[in-house]
Amino acid sequence: MSKFKIAWLPGDGVGIEVLEAAKIVLDKSGIDAEYIHGDIGWEFWCKEGDAFPERTVNLLKNVDAAMFGAITSKPVKAAAAELVPALQNKGLIYRSPIVRMRQMFDLYTCLRPCKGYEGNKLNYKDNIDLVVFRENTEGMYSGVEFGPVPKELSDLLTKISKPFAPFKDIAPDQFAISCKINTRKGSERIIRAAFEFARKFNRKKVTVVHKSNVVRATDGLFLETAKEVAKDFPEIKMDDANIDAITMWLLKNPHNYDVLVAPNLFGDIISDLCAQMVGGLGFGCSGNIGEKLAVFEPTHGSAPKYAGQYKVNPIATILSAKMMLAWLGEKEKAEKLEKAVAEIIKEGKVGTYDMGGTNTTLEVAEAIADKL
Ligand code: IPM
Ligand code: MG
Repeated sequence: MSKFKIAWLPGDGVGIEVLEAAKIVLDKSGIDAEYIHGDIGWEFWCKEGDAFPERTVNLLKNVDAAMFGAITSKPVKAAAAELVPALQNKGLIYRSPIVRMRQMFDLYTCLRPCKGYEGNKLNYKDNIDLVVFRENTEGMYSGVEFGPVPKELSDLLTKISKPFAPFKDIAPDQFAISCKINTRKGSERIIRAAFEFARKFNRKKVTVVHKSNVVRATDGLFLETAKEVAKDFPEIKMDDANIDAITMWLLKNPHNYDVLVAPNLFGDIISDLCAQMVGGLGFGCSGNIGEKLAVFEPTHGSAPKYAGQYKVNPIATILSAKMMLAWLGEKEKAEKLEKAVAEIIKEGKVGTYDMGGTNTTLEVAEAIADKL
């Protein structure tokens, strides 16, 4: 029996290709693992009305960790139009499987390290080393949404919401509501995770991202909770910034920042920005981490226009696999893998098109594996 059981969830588009690349380096890393395929993605939505079938949910209950590729999510209207007739009119609503997975398994930490490896021509500036902690289960992604809005909700809102209450004169299909829900517990655990990380890895500062000057209730709660948590970490500096301002400041001086912690949607936004500063989404790795399970994935999506061409950069996924090794306790193997990636980047001889190279996804993976 293998030491670890790992669910293998390629999904759609280039997700399949980058996971194939990750497998090449994991096999070479020497990790003693069994990989179990799980069905997930657009194909299963079209065939079964569920992009994240029950059998895959059950698989995730019985593994140590998972690697996930990417999934194609289409706009709601396109989704309905493409449904097989048998599934139409059943009131099925497409919800992103990865978002569901994060909530279902309470993978509350989305950890996205953004490190500019030496010699990467795509680095925005030298020596960028940012770590984003994104809340991964609530906030704008709570999934509590109404469109059309039920009459009882619109009546209630008209009654109780003072500053903005135009609901009573609008037809239910002429407006929509998406609820941003932040809990104290949800805020506290992600902020604590960011501070614990800063303590463990000797980081100097945690920056709390929010918009509490306008979104007072939810972001106010997030910021207030951060100030409480920070008291337990007196050796680590805490500051905070509005989401709009931080995008500007991060670009202006990324070296002023270290660890960032943000509610779900703001974390989504700044993690793309930070990834771009260290070479783009081809380098953006990520871990969705809970108490029992962790699912590792590249930050990029399924890139349908590149699907099947084996041209996208596998480094984001390979660095995600490195994060998985570290999370499983295989520290030496993780370090060795990161070193191999860093060497390939520094040498600059092998690279995909985004890196100015001509190699395929799998050739880059093989070059990394050769160094292990
Ligand atoms: C990410 C992605 C996802 C998200 C999408 C694919 C649902 O953008 O992981 O950052 O919004 O969380
Ligand atoms: Mg994103």
